[in-house]
Amino acid sequence: MSLNSLASISMVKPDDWHLHIRDGVVLKDVLSHTVKQFARAVIMPNLQPPITTVALAQAYRERIELQLQQLATNQFTPLMTLYLTDNTAATEVQKAKDAGIVGIKLYPAGATTNSDSGVSNLKHCSAVLEAMQKANLPLLIHGETTDPSIDVFDREAVFIDRVLEPLRRDFPELRIVFEHITTLQAAQYVRDAHTANKNILGATITPQHLLMNRNAIFSGGIRPHHYCLPVLKREEHRLALLEVATSGNARFFLGTDSAPHPKGLKENACGCAGCFSAFNALGLYVEAFESLGRLDRLEAFASFYGADFYGLPRNTEIIRLQKQAQLVPTELPLGDTTIVPLRAGESIAWSLT
Ligand code: DOR
Ligand code: ZN
Repeated sequence: MSLNSLASISMVKPDDWHLHIRDGVVLKDVLSHTVKQFARAVIMPNLQPPITTVALAQAYRERIELQLQQLATNQFTPLMTLYLTDNTAATEVQKAKDAGIVGIKLYPAGATTNSDSGVSNLKHCSAVLEAMQKANLPLLIHGETTDPSIDVFDREAVFIDRVLEPLRRDFPELRIVFEHITTLQAAQYVRDAHTANKNILGATITPQHLLMNRNAIFSGGIRPHHYCLPVLKREEHRLALLEVATSGNARFFLGTDSAPHPKGLKENACGCAGCFSAFNALGLYVEAFESLGRLDRLEAFASFYGADFYGLPRNTEIIRLQKQAQLVPTELPLGDTTIVPLRAGESIAWSLT
């Protein structure tokens, strides 16, 4: 990485280790933003119906590849995942590994968008987890308890005590990505965990959780486009995330969790969870690192540590960003509807050249 001057950065092209791109008529529009910035992305399986088998993942990959052809890019690789259910067969694990699937996603049932078919209790999944541990296939975790009596802002911290710590005790060699962490507790847990091997535990961090605290959901009125899950937290949590992201600790890497929902389903009496950051996610991360004067640590977070965790080669292509404000459109096309991107109508300080 080189900080050519205060006004431009050259760095190895990054990857997005947590991304929602959906399916059908919106797929191409959603993908069109990510492919400009990222070489690869881990594609989340929470479609309706969810991607629960290798056959479904392969068919989904083919639909993505078709759209990539239409976008005239052969420079982007989707990394596929499976959706864990109470009924996932342990035999699917080795098949997944052989098919190049990079992980299996745990959604606690009811925790978030399209998680109804998720896991009701991890005790139903012991055989699958055992097989994953053996096959060296990571478990990607949406880490929030679904206990309705727990305050929504505490659900991640409670999940660590009730689910994650017991899981790690039972499966000490199981590789885990604690996805889109949002709290001081999660940041410290991942930073301080004692692991048998390197690369057993990682965490992704989104741009919105590095740049905003929960006030952003309520500033001047309710802001549905700042609502995602896990929900934004207090400032002390944002600062803890920023600290670990910029610390040079290889357990923390980039995952946008960009999650598109049509404008009408966000600006709604019961608005969907998800921030659509894909328009210029990289620019948002640059702002976050710049805010602490740690631009020198951005490249490893964005382009090296995730690849290392997943055991994939680092990218080699170089991209360049310049400090030139980019106005974010108020809306973007999304199939036959529109979507409101994060920062809509405002600007992002850095843009790709
Ligand atoms: O805000 C979110 N949106 N969090 C999730 O966990 C899922 C995602 C989505 O799929 O919309
Ligand atoms: Zn997600």
